[in-house]
Amino acid sequence: MKAHKPLVIGNWKLNPATLGKARKLFTEIRDRYGRRKSAINAVVAPPFPFISEIERLSPSRRIELAAQDVFFESTGAYTGEVSLPMLKSVGVSYVMVGHSERRARGETDEDVYRDVQVVLKNKTQVVICVGEKARDDHGNYFGVVEAQLRAALRDVKKTWLPNVIIAYEPIWAIGTGNTATPEDAREMKLFIAKILTDRFGRKEAKKVRIIYGGSVKKGNAAALLETGEVDGFLVGGASLRPADFVSILNTAVEYVKNSQAT
Ligand code: PGA
Repeated sequence: MKAHKPLVIGNWKLNPATLGKARKLFTEIRDRYGRRKSAINAVVAPPFPFISEIERLSPSRRIELAAQDVFFESTGAYTGEVSLPMLKSVGVSYVMVGHSERRARGETDEDVYRDVQVVLKNKTQVVICVGEKARDDHGNYFGVVEAQLRAALRDVKKTWLPNVIIAYEPIWAIGTGNTATPEDAREMKLFIAKILTDRFGRKEAKKVRIIYGGSVKKGNAAALLETGEVDGFLVGGASLRPADFVSILNTAVEYVKNSQAT
């Protein structure tokens, strides 16, 4: 049996355009997903202005809520920012940090470090996004991922690890349709697990879920779980299509069932 409950997060990014459309998108996902629960963590990450309303539409929390980003201070003179206490107070249980689209707009390893600290100190689950821009023949991309990870995990305490999720998202795979092969995803998962083990010890490192993102679709989800051995997904484009997203959720549910049976 697999050690972790799979975690599948739908990252809506800057979509959809209005609250009405967000309501419709979520309701369709919720209704299609139905009563299946607890075998996996099913999560959506809507834009900030929609979070409260989505929370209201899912009172049972069968589908949980993530935020796409956070600011490291709690209150104060920081125009335009959103803090962790604010997010928690509207029902957010997971916070994504360091997504490549934010790094591309100037977020640094130091920003990621501060965000990770505030999320974990407040006993909330953090999804730390890492991934290389491109692959090369010399394996330099391993170094890129390692540097991002080490910066993000600085000062993280062993006891916080159950709230840590690493999302491996190679930038070349995001929104391009070029999904990493299950073998590539597995290789990077093992590499990340090794860094965690070196840093925290084997037993503690195993508490961290390592998920994959980058053109995850209903057609490749099963292989990424089975052969890629990842603990779940961060889904962008496909999470905006209810039938596709629920099919990915159901693939993870089936995967758990099958691995329990063997
Ligand atoms: P994608 O996005 O599934 O559209 O490739 C993934 C992400 O950016 O989290």
